[in-house]
Amino acid sequence: MKPVKIKDGIYWVGGIDWDLRNFHGYLTQRGSTYNSYLIVDEKIVLIDNVKSYMFKEQLERISEIVDPAKIDYIVQNHIEMDHSGSLPLILEYCPNAKIFASQKGAEGLPKHYGDKWKYNAVKSGDVLELGKRTLSFVQTPMVHWPDNMVSYCKEEKILFSNDAFGQHIASSERFDDEYPYNILIEEAKKYYANIVLPYSNQVKKALTVVENLDIEVICPSHGIIYRSRIPEILREYKKWSANEVENTAVIVFDTMWKSTEKIAQAIQSSFENKGIYVKMRNLQSNHISDIMTDIITAKYLGVGSPTLNNNILPTVAAFLAYLKGLAPKGRTGFAFGSYGWGGQSVEIVENELKSCGFDLLDKIKVQYVPTKETLLEIRESFEKNL
Ligand code: FEO
Repeated sequence: MKPVKIKDGIYWVGGIDWDLRNFHGYLTQRGSTYNSYLIVDEKIVLIDNVKSYMFKEQLERISEIVDPAKIDYIVQNHIEMDHSGSLPLILEYCPNAKIFASQKGAEGLPKHYGDKWKYNAVKSGDVLELGKRTLSFVQTPMVHWPDNMVSYCKEEKILFSNDAFGQHIASSERFDDEYPYNILIEEAKKYYANIVLPYSNQVKKALTVVENLDIEVICPSHGIIYRSRIPEILREYKKWSANEVENTAVIVFDTMWKSTEKIAQAIQSSFENKGIYVKMRNLQSNHISDIMTDIITAKYLGVGSPTLNNNILPTVAAFLAYLKGLAPKGRTGFAFGSYGWGGQSVEIVENELKSCGFDLLDKIKVQYVPTKETLLEIRESFEKNL
């Protein structure tokens, strides 16, 4: 397992998780990486770790450059276990290494790994002298845990950004100019939508800090390293964190006997007639984490469910629970669905959309199977809403 040189004396020594397909409910079709970085100066510093089961890879990569026993410092920008899992394992090799984390990180690490080691708290503005280089710290709380911070090496103009700007991509390519740009941005968008979105206000603050740094390389803790597309990813983060939406729609639904699907298609026609791009997302064939990627830039969100046992379909319930947790703001929502007798589903969906704080369009309910005439009526009346 080879390390990858980023600049003289600075290396990527992470792990590539080719087989990862589920990251606490997020479908990671392309796998992921846990990026760990090594700076070799008068002091040797390891920045972030990897999941515990990837330790062998990390250790092999480090050992290609230095004897791990020589590591002086370990900077833990974030304590979540995808980045700290191998911390106790590497410490077996360098038990005297000093560990640095934010205050919340220093409080959280012993709650994961016990108090065998001392965890040193740093705050924004603190600087670690490495020799020719320095590493300074900036707290980025709630992007996306309370302990998050980033590290900046001003002499090399490198930002070690941890989860910010990450993407779940397993690849042999390490840099943005080696990897297809469209896939990179799509995966960065999916990452933002599924991990970072609830913390957009904190992202805005963090961006203000980042924009004042002179940066040639952004080294995130997942996926591809940016060295050629930095303005692009900063621009996208600005857009996503500012909740900038396009005049597009996403229609999410599940269906029992295709009546709810027919209503969805009638609404699709309404959007098309108004020249509004629309994505149809049947929950039987689309993962909720992919749907979230569509939603972060869409103005309209329709959610449809037939009534089942006085309730909504479980797939729709799971989607709405996920949506509420990620809390996109300022969308225009609407509920629709078919029913046989009780007909509770549409109100349940509508209440959920209301609790997301969305503006609501009129709900649409049809008993049993919609006729051609009913579908035409739905199309025409919905169109008038747009
Ligand atoms: Fe990639 Fe919050 O851990």
